[in-house]
Amino acid sequence: MKYDFDKVIDRSKIPCVKWHPEYLSKRFNGHKDVFPMWVADMDLPSSEGVLARIQKVVDDGIFGYACLDDSFFSAVKRWNLKIHQWDIKTEWIVFTAGVVATLNFIIHEFTKEEESILIQSPVYYPFKNSIINNNRNLVLNPLIDTGSSYQIDFVDMEQKIVDHNVKLFIMCSPHNPVGRIWTKEELTKMGEICLKHSVLVVADEIHNDLILFNNKHTVFANISEEFAMNSITCTAPSKTFNLAGLHCSLIIISNPDIREKYQSRLTKLGVGGINIIGMEATKGAYLESDEWYQEMLTYLEGNYKYLCEFVSEHIPQFKVYPLEGTYLTWIDMRSMNWTEKEVEEFFEVKAKLGVDYGSWFGDDSVGFFRLNIACPRSLLTEGLNRIKNALEK
Ligand SMILES: Cc1ncc(COP(=O)(O)O)c(C=O)c1O
Repeated sequence: MKYDFDKVIDRSKIPCVKWHPEYLSKRFNGHKDVFPMWVADMDLPSSEGVLARIQKVVDDGIFGYACLDDSFFSAVKRWNLKIHQWDIKTEWIVFTAGVVATLNFIIHEFTKEEESILIQSPVYYPFKNSIINNNRNLVLNPLIDTGSSYQIDFVDMEQKIVDHNVKLFIMCSPHNPVGRIWTKEELTKMGEICLKHSVLVVADEIHNDLILFNNKHTVFANISEEFAMNSITCTAPSKTFNLAGLHCSLIIISNPDIREKYQSRLTKLGVGGINIIGMEATKGAYLESDEWYQEMLTYLEGNYKYLCEFVSEHIPQFKVYPLEGTYLTWIDMRSMNWTEKEVEEFFEVKAKLGVDYGSWFGDDSVGFFRLNIACPRSLLTEGLNRIKNALEK
């Protein structure tokens, strides 16, 4: 390995959501001393390519208003062609400062108050919050838990769309937190249901580069022209290259009418500014980080295998679900028969570990938790030992 992902960087001194005691205290019932393995960013430094580009901006010392240039668009296009075999056109790319912000803009532009929006629970909790906060009707199409993975309930999906006159479907692909990468067949079935009932698809593909163990991610909009015309794709370098704090996301919309509407919403809200550091970091990620990217994926695979071995040897009461993509593992501890309160007490008081609770992702997921394994292996070991020791006590 050329890159040293085992190296620990002390983030407790850096003001960041994941490690800051005040933030932890708010998130974990006053417990500021939990060891953080929650929220989706990495405890691994970004690539040399990214750092060099940022360093150049810092050396220039000027942080005035930035604009997207040709090299930015070429970088985004190169990456998508190389990694996803997706040949996107420059005009399809709309830069926006965050995918969650984008979801809210889309909800405003493409639905009215009280209209219905469908999501597949358990799912990244800001989906639900964005719908509820904007006074839209939340419609759940729960995923089917087979006991060892998750499947889509297509019959329920179509029925709910018809019953609630759903206008928008927010798809998570790859899926956070269940770790599935939807197959082309699954995506096609969902896409066809949405076309049939005139439901606009928002494909949140922010995790789309984090594909493990030779799995294959299919870009929803790349399946057919019809799907492309009926969708908005949300991507970003933020998860893959650990740039979430730079607020750079790439919203890809090939349908000119939908794109114009989305852009007009941004204009009305005055949110079009470009973050120069984020823009340069994106170029470094998509042009100069191929080797780092491959090694980082290999490191994550190693962490996942280590996690599975550790759990089967020391915590056999827990079951790790298969991880096809993302660095967010979904772990079943329903065998403990704990209530939500007991789960929180176990992690916050006994193990002193900060994880994302299953209940945050959906009411039916109490007894699961999401563990972020994008960290040096020694930190992963620390987290797992905390669980093991707490159970032994
Ligand atoms: C599915 C999904 N969408 C969006 C985000 C956040 O995106 P952003 O930081 O660009 O708002 C996350 C972060 O974990 C995520 O998992």
